[in-house]
Amino acid sequence: MSKKSVFMIAVLFLFTAYSVNATVISSESKAPAMPDNVKAIIEKSCIGCHNTDSKNDKAKEALDMKTMESLSKPKMIHALKEIGETLEENEMPPAKFLEKFPDKKLTDAEKKILLDWASNEAKSLMK
Ligand code: HEC
Repeated sequence: MSKKSVFMIAVLFLFTAYSVNATVISSESKAPAMPDNVKAIIEKSCIGCHNTDSKNDKAKEALDMKTMESLSKPKMIHALKEIGETLEENEMPPAKFLEKFPDKKLTDAEKKILLDWASNEAKSLMK
């Protein structure tokens, strides 16, 4: 192999290593993905109304939880704070909805998982 091709391979290798690294860094600087346990609770009790294709326009406009992971930092912080507030005040899921679907009610443990997630996540984004 000529010196020139060894050099070209080395450059290519470094370039690939650099771009892989850059992707890792840029995906880390976004809001971290929802942990599975949080996702499962949201899917059980929230996503039915708060999703992109929801027929509940008010809920969809207030918060689309399917796409919230791609919100900008300030919007994500705001959304997390609102989630925390609605949970603290037992406003969500709405009482009327729970009358019809009592199994969607959050257990105390589930509520705590969501609250802890929302506050820790907001804190880490504000650092
Ligand atoms: C039956 C439909 C329904 C379900 C299920 C539901 N929501 Fe909502 N949500 C709404 C509607 C409608 C609004 C907007 C109107 C309002 O503020 O009452 C809303 C508003 C919100 C808001 C914005 C509050 C504000 O002050 O603007 C947050 C945050 C929220 N919901 C979180 C949740 C969470 C977390 C869950 C699951 C634990 C959940 N919702 C489940 C219907 C729902």
